[in-house]
Amino acid sequence: MTINSNPSRVTIKVLEQMKNEGEKISMLTAYDYSFAKIIDEAGIDIILVGDSASNVMAGHETTLPITLDQMIYHASSVIRAVKRALVVVDLPFGTYQADSKEALKSAIRIMKESGAHAVKLEGGHLAKESIERILQAGIPVMGHLGLTPQSIYKFGTYTVRAKDDVEAKTLIDDSKMLEKIGCFSIVLEKIPNVLAKKVALNLKLPIIGIGAGSDVDGQVLVSHDMLGMNKDFSPRFLRRYLDLDSLVSNAVKKYSSDIKSGSFPNKDEQY
Ligand code: KIV
Repeated sequence: MTINSNPSRVTIKVLEQMKNEGEKISMLTAYDYSFAKIIDEAGIDIILVGDSASNVMAGHETTLPITLDQMIYHASSVIRAVKRALVVVDLPFGTYQADSKEALKSAIRIMKESGAHAVKLEGGHLAKESIERILQAGIPVMGHLGLTPQSIYKFGTYTVRAKDDVEAKTLIDDSKMLEKIGCFSIVLEKIPNVLAKKVALNLKLPIIGIGAGSDVDGQVLVSHDMLGMNKDFSPRFLRRYLDLDSLVSNAVKKYSSDIKSGSFPNKDEQY
């Protein structure tokens, strides 16, 4: 029997059990009610209201511009649709870096105003104090290491992280620290498979990868990318499950030509 087919609600305890029993965890982003409903009913374990909303919903080049109010709006829409998945919401850039009190206030706003189940934030030792304060308030925290898109202007590129020994050691130390202080899970983004495997093997908490290979406890992708809504984004780690861009485009073209030819609406489609 798999746990996945079973729980009526995915909780942090369920995720822990899944790791212990070797059952992989599925995670996908959602930003609105309609997609969240489909994704939840399809049985995804964790729904992430990612700050990637800044890119795929708002059209910004980076994740930096999205605000706390906007994240709360997306998260509330998702929460209204979800019955089974654990809903995790990203703390956006600028809402937790200044000091730990501000970080806690931001996390509380997300939990209170959206009804989300947990928050995610980027960073290791530099974010430690903020994460500890949020955890002390009883809010579950998911960590995020490796490529952390909110620091894109520090990195300069979206290339694979932690390829050298120094950065790899920092990542290992940070992941151990995140487990020790009480994070319930960590996302590892765009790092070598061997390093991700080492982290997943050495830690008890579930490790979710994106571009981190198959030897971790679960996988996450941005829904717009895996559904093929973004032709211009083709990193090696992305598998497209649909060509939604073409499907929607063809439907819209047909609709438009049906209007122009007078074939829509027909007699059965009017009162
Ligand atoms: O914002 C996001 O979608 C994310 C995932 C890429 C993990 O953080």
